[in-house]
Amino acid sequence: MSLKERIIRRIAAEGPISVADYMALCLADPVDGYYTRDAPGLDPFGVKGDFITAPEISQIFGELMGLWCVDAWQRLLGSPSPVNLIELGPGRGTLLADALRAARVAPAFLEAARIHLVEVSPALKRRQRMALAGMDVVWHDHFDATPDGPFLLLANEFFDVLPIRQFVATSRGMAERVIGLDETRRHLRFALAPGPSAWAKLLPPALARAHEGSMVELSPAALTLAQSIARRIARRGGAALIVDYGPTVSAPGETLQALKRHLRHNVLEDPGAADVTAHVDFAAIASAAEAAGARSFGPAPQGEFLARLGANQRADRLKAGLGPLGAAEIDTAVGRLLDPKEMGTLFKVLALVPADAGAPAGF
Ligand SMILES: C[S@@+](CC[C@H](N)C(=O)[O-])C[C@H]1O[C@@H](n2cnc3c(N)ncnc32)[C@H](O)[C@@H]1O
Repeated sequence: MSLKERIIRRIAAEGPISVADYMALCLADPVDGYYTRDAPGLDPFGVKGDFITAPEISQIFGELMGLWCVDAWQRLLGSPSPVNLIELGPGRGTLLADALRAARVAPAFLEAARIHLVEVSPALKRRQRMALAGMDVVWHDHFDATPDGPFLLLANEFFDVLPIRQFVATSRGMAERVIGLDETRRHLRFALAPGPSAWAKLLPPALARAHEGSMVELSPAALTLAQSIARRIARRGGAALIVDYGPTVSAPGETLQALKRHLRHNVLEDPGAADVTAHVDFAAIASAAEAAGARSFGPAPQGEFLARLGANQRADRLKAGLGPLGAAEIDTAVGRLLDPKEMGTLFKVLALVPADAGAPAGF
């Protein structure tokens, strides 16, 4: 039975489900989830896949993340050894492979680093094992399962896959948007739950005050994760870099989307077959992390952040000695990462550091 049929049966038996439950099933159903299903060679990235991410566009992205970690380890954390280097949702492992190559400038950092990956996809774990061949790597299902201790954490396009709840501001208060069945009972459709939702109490003030008719989104999973990271930063020392797409301030609006073969796809049409994401509410994450004892910097636009870390200088170094074609390829890739019309502004970078730490590099 397809995932869609199973979801329809569940709703027919138990009633409508939240958008968060639906998103979790689409992405992480043990058999048919977009990230959890397994098949040889399964790979959502690149031209033949469904989307492309910054580390797959240019090696410069991962390299600068690696240098950011070295600087944070030395300057903000006082060079603890060992230090856990944790990546959430490492995809093909490209970011970390580039980061560790760049971090060779600091052999003491590489010696101290213990690599821990948080990943649910069996197919991508295999890709990561290949990308990080020869290194000691430990995989975990969740951040809370990674070993306690001082740490550096990288999360690129991870928070956008964490399930969100949606609400519509009504005269009765915030009503939760749910997923039920249409009249034929053979197709999924959005509906509104009657009465105000208790979850809405977690909405940041800017969203709780939204005008009647507006839709607002909340990711309890993202807030819980941000708090877990922040609590460990406060207790053991650590620095986290969260890169994703979303607004600087919490704002109403529907951002849930499904992407298949690089095109928008109906979210309800084919659960498990497309990547489902939502904009990340950086302000809500920062305030959850600060309440749990960390200090936040940003979010800074990705383009500005990478430029401050030296993306253009690194591109010039890579171009030296290349012919015009090779140089043009690098310019195009760097343009995609930095240009405000491409990923430069929509994507943002948020850093979480100890409460008494100064500004990390790039902020
Ligand atoms: C959009 S990809 C980003 C990959 C990578 N960070 C990059 O920039 O190329 C999302 C990643 O998170 C993983 N993932 C998705 N949901 C997850 C979950 N609930 N727990 C752990 N990993 C998850 C996916 O398998 C994938 O590696």
